[in-house]
Amino acid sequence: MKVTVSPCQRVHGHLVVPGDKSISHRGLLFGALAHGRTEVRGLSGGEDVHSTARCLRDLGIVITERAADCVWVDGQGLRGFKAPTAPLDCGNSGTTTRLFMGFLSGQSFDTVLTGDASLSQRPMNRVAQPLTAMGARFTLTEGKHAPVTIHGQGRLRAADINLEVASAQVKSAVLLAGLYAEGTTRLGGRIDSRDHTERLLPHFGAQLDRTATQISVKGGELHGASVVVPGDPSSAAFWLAAAAAAPKGHMEVTQVLLNPTRTGFFRVLERMGASLTEHIIEAELEPVGTVSLRAQGLAGTSITAAEVPALIDEIPLVAVLGALAEGETVVHGAEELRVKETDRIESVAKNLRLMGGTIETFADGFRIVGPQKLRGAALDSMGDHRVAMAFAVAALSAHGETTIEHAEAASVSYPAFWETLAGLGHG
Ligand code: S3P
Repeated sequence: MKVTVSPCQRVHGHLVVPGDKSISHRGLLFGALAHGRTEVRGLSGGEDVHSTARCLRDLGIVITERAADCVWVDGQGLRGFKAPTAPLDCGNSGTTTRLFMGFLSGQSFDTVLTGDASLSQRPMNRVAQPLTAMGARFTLTEGKHAPVTIHGQGRLRAADINLEVASAQVKSAVLLAGLYAEGTTRLGGRIDSRDHTERLLPHFGAQLDRTATQISVKGGELHGASVVVPGDPSSAAFWLAAAAAAPKGHMEVTQVLLNPTRTGFFRVLERMGASLTEHIIEAELEPVGTVSLRAQGLAGTSITAAEVPALIDEIPLVAVLGALAEGETVVHGAEELRVKETDRIESVAKNLRLMGGTIETFADGFRIVGPQKLRGAALDSMGDHRVAMAFAVAALSAHGETTIEHAEAASVSYPAFWETLAGLGHG
């Protein structure tokens, strides 16, 4: 699908965004691992979350749709899964693949995980490595990619694991494997990624403790729970960025997740000059509330390695805003972007250059000096949802029309994105 985006300088609105993708995956999966019924409300309708549901169904889990965004998951306990009769298709979803590697290594059967061409390029050895220390066994394609065969070991060993990359997917895989081990699994090192697994597992009855430097989890069963999924701040980010870039832009997003491990981009928007307020309305499982933004011009900023985990998925938007901002925007410590759905440093640079922009890329980031006059161009998402949506935002501030090929990729996390974009400024 190819979409055409026309420039639009009137960006304002009051929106709710779809349910958080990370919490939706976890709600479904932890429900499947638990004994009894779990209700997940506010579930993301994105394709990645459908991939998790489909794979769980292929493992014999009954998931009942109660309403458009509400499901019941009838879990059968940690070992209540049925051996699948065919490989499980994880689609485009790295989260599905990596979290499944965690709990499937504790089953008493083998499973094969496959996915699309992009998923099959992404590193899975980063999960296999720590899990192998717990007694798990895998066969990876070329030693690192999907298709991945998980040779279920029935039981795993508790271990002390030092995480080398700040990845919530790897961290979560280890914590899930820890449920299948006798004793306590301890995780240290780069545990500073999004913390939804740490927040949610105890809600399902897991014995999990954490300090700033260590997470520990004991082996043991889970019980069903009720999960209300707040709006996805990574989806809200597109509208906030669009408003920040528009003269007199303003935007309010309600019922959105305000977990500080996810809102790094809000801090960057503030530093770039936007006036932004967060109002937490509820803080039980996760902080949830309203974020409002008023545009006040944009200035460049520097993003350091320590900040990156809290805005990893929003860095394509930082590049777009960097091009429009006055002065220099520099990102370092974001080498993880190279192993996302596409190499996001390259995809962003390519599309920005097609719009007449200039960008210097590094192994771990980029430098942009603005303001640049972007012009409408023929772009391609390259199948990457966040690239498609970030360049729709760029197109709003360009001169002339932009087309984005493979725009359907947005459905991976935000199926209604193009519709919402079409309504922007008319509300
Ligand atoms: C996710 C973790 C992040 C993020 C992805 C979702 C998760 O990936 O980019 O969109 O739900 O755990 P990494 O764990 O690879 O950083």
